[in-house]
Amino acid sequence: MGETPFNEKAVTDLTEDEAQEELASLSHVLAEANQAYHVKDAPAISDAEYDALKRRNAEIETRFPALKREDSPTEQVGAAPAEGFSKVRHSVRMLSLSNAFEDSDIADFDASVRRYLGLAGDAPLSYTSEPKIDGLSLALRYENGALVQAATRGDGAEGENVTANARTIDDIPQTLTGAPDILEVRGEVYMSHADFEALNLRQVDRVGKVFANPRNAAAGSLRQLDAEITRSRPLRFFAYSWGELSYPLAETQFGAIERLAGLGFQTNPLTHLCDGPDDMLAHYARIEAQRATLGYDIDGVVYKVNDLGLQGRLGFRSTTPRWAIAHKFPAELAWTRLEAIDIQVGRTGALSPVARLTPVTVGGVVVSNATLHNEDYILGRDSQGNLIREGKDIRVGDWVQVYRAGDVIPKVADVDLSKRPEDAQPYVFPTVCPECGSEAIREEGDAIRRCTGGLICPAQAVEKLKHFVSRGAFDIEGLGAKQIEMFHGDEVLSIREPADIFTLEARDGETLARLKNRDGWGEKSATNLFAAIQTRRHIALERMIFALGIRHVGEAAARDLALHFGSWEALTRAVDTARPAVLAQRAADDAERAERASAAKDARRARIKETRDAAIADRDVPEAAMDSWAELTGIDGIGSVLVLSLSDALANAQERASIDRLVAHLDIQPPERPATEGSPVAGKTVVFTGSLERMTRAEAKARAESLGAKVSGSVSKKTDIVVAGPGAGSKEQKARDLGLTVLDEDGWLELIGA
Ligand code: IVH
Repeated sequence: MGETPFNEKAVTDLTEDEAQEELASLSHVLAEANQAYHVKDAPAISDAEYDALKRRNAEIETRFPALKREDSPTEQVGAAPAEGFSKVRHSVRMLSLSNAFEDSDIADFDASVRRYLGLAGDAPLSYTSEPKIDGLSLALRYENGALVQAATRGDGAEGENVTANARTIDDIPQTLTGAPDILEVRGEVYMSHADFEALNLRQVDRVGKVFANPRNAAAGSLRQLDAEITRSRPLRFFAYSWGELSYPLAETQFGAIERLAGLGFQTNPLTHLCDGPDDMLAHYARIEAQRATLGYDIDGVVYKVNDLGLQGRLGFRSTTPRWAIAHKFPAELAWTRLEAIDIQVGRTGALSPVARLTPVTVGGVVVSNATLHNEDYILGRDSQGNLIREGKDIRVGDWVQVYRAGDVIPKVADVDLSKRPEDAQPYVFPTVCPECGSEAIREEGDAIRRCTGGLICPAQAVEKLKHFVSRGAFDIEGLGAKQIEMFHGDEVLSIREPADIFTLEARDGETLARLKNRDGWGEKSATNLFAAIQTRRHIALERMIFALGIRHVGEAAARDLALHFGSWEALTRAVDTARPAVLAQRAADDAERAERASAAKDARRARIKETRDAAIADRDVPEAAMDSWAELTGIDGIGSVLVLSLSDALANAQERASIDRLVAHLDIQPPERPATEGSPVAGKTVVFTGSLERMTRAEAKARAESLGAKVSGSVSKKTDIVVAGPGAGSKEQKARDLGLTVLDEDGWLELIGA
């Protein structure tokens, strides 16, 4: 094995450079040892030596967390570390599926598909139904019949290049005959139960650790940097979908799957054609009955609209297709003791109760924390005051039932009163923030109690900062949750608000000198961090909006706002202008609540509307404010609750000053628009009004947006085109008064070339 891979020095005496060098050499040596063992079946070092090297590696990583390598041996069970995988941009995004848990969700899914397509309830509409394989998805690109690339899903836009690894999997054909010139086949890599058991037996002997479940084993095996290790792992592949195609595979989902099978792919034998929700549920029951004997893990059933033309019309929401849904199997359950209830304070001040549990295995994963949602949930009530768990409350010391549904945080479902300790006390939810002592209040209609400390609450500030640097936001390399906690608490190198990140390097002229002397930091990691921060001064508008961590403004909404306004200035101008209308809406909400409480039932509807209108009229809101309000709430996907929250955040003097300080350091880039070259409506604002006959409103909107148009709900001077169907009323009139282009449905379809 050549020279000794580690320095003679104690870990505590290592300099940063020495540590970095040693981690590299350890990762190399451990990789070779793994390869010798797994692939050549000829161990190069003893198990004891191997363990000592791994321990040394872990000790160095603990002392220098910033130096931990991406291919760190501690993250891998028997893995062979080497250089990281290169990245692959997916030419067609790899999306996920929305989930259904109840039978009624399937009827709802069918209804929503019909609504979108404008199909009557009794019009024929068939779906495929097939098992949802619990593995990891893989995209295989074939050009002229040859496998040229394999990529993992990654974040959907960009995955890892695992071509060499995929080539070692028997189920994946290297060449195809009679396939379209460009064919990207997508499917699931998985491991069978029998292969998983056998692999784990080998793992126990080899590294004293086992994979938690077949999915982890499949992922760990595919993502080996040494493809020879992947070859030694028994991976399999089912094809169920596709990405880029130079020629369609078939006219139906079912036909396309048959075509893939004909080309030599494994397709799931339980794939079945169903003629509606009853049939789908019957097939679900059949698959569920076979679940235990299939020999591989599945976690539900996937339904897809069979007609590919209709799939095309249905299209996608931001991350999921409208034409498919995953019907998940009920979650796995376990019972354990509730040891304590802790309160965590989130970035929007929400006080979340967290159950600390005696560790218990739920579906192959050890669970020691679970969410308790909110104070009503602990008391045995839902947000409407209805009883849940027959009204049983949850107390520290109780025996509780825990479940995991999909990948989400485990939850506490039930409590066993027969095992309640005699001295167990009802849980008293705090009314002051445990972090900053500010009052914690619950607004009417809100299930959540929130700390009112705002930026003075350290927990809120830290959580906001963690969100700010997170993946969909500024995503600064080397500045994750752990580092944020360190900097937040630091006297000199403090980061208290986002703008501080951008002043860190120049803080006192000695930042570098100070930082490189901190535990876990050195010259290299500090300069890398400053460089990463520099590159993020140029930031996409949607990331900037999302990064602010404003309640209700998630990634999809941030994108919608960015696409609509195109610049930070235009967005803030609209939000600021709308402020008087926002305040009037809130007054109207309050008036409505009061009215609801007092009015007699039958008189209610009309009275409520009157009350709202009066409350708004009373405030004498400027027309420009009403226009901006209408523009904001008219954006598809943006509702009044979000606009209220966004407006409150930007109107809060402290918060706005903090945002302005941040903006001064940034160069905010306009959002990338979908490729709309040659689109006659790119950048135009379009309003649909009246009824449409050849497509539904939702479809028209989605189509217009995919062509680069902005779709709004209200007509103003800024509108470019109004598409008016039969029954269009005041909006069409207003458009004509303003002299705007008014088209009928056929005129619109002609314009967009449909
Ligand atoms: S279709 C546009 N079909 O489930 C989405 N996905 O939760 C196309 N999966 O990322 C996916 N079995 O990794 C589809 N029969 C199946 C599946 C399946 C497993 C996975 C896939 C996807 C995830 C979504």
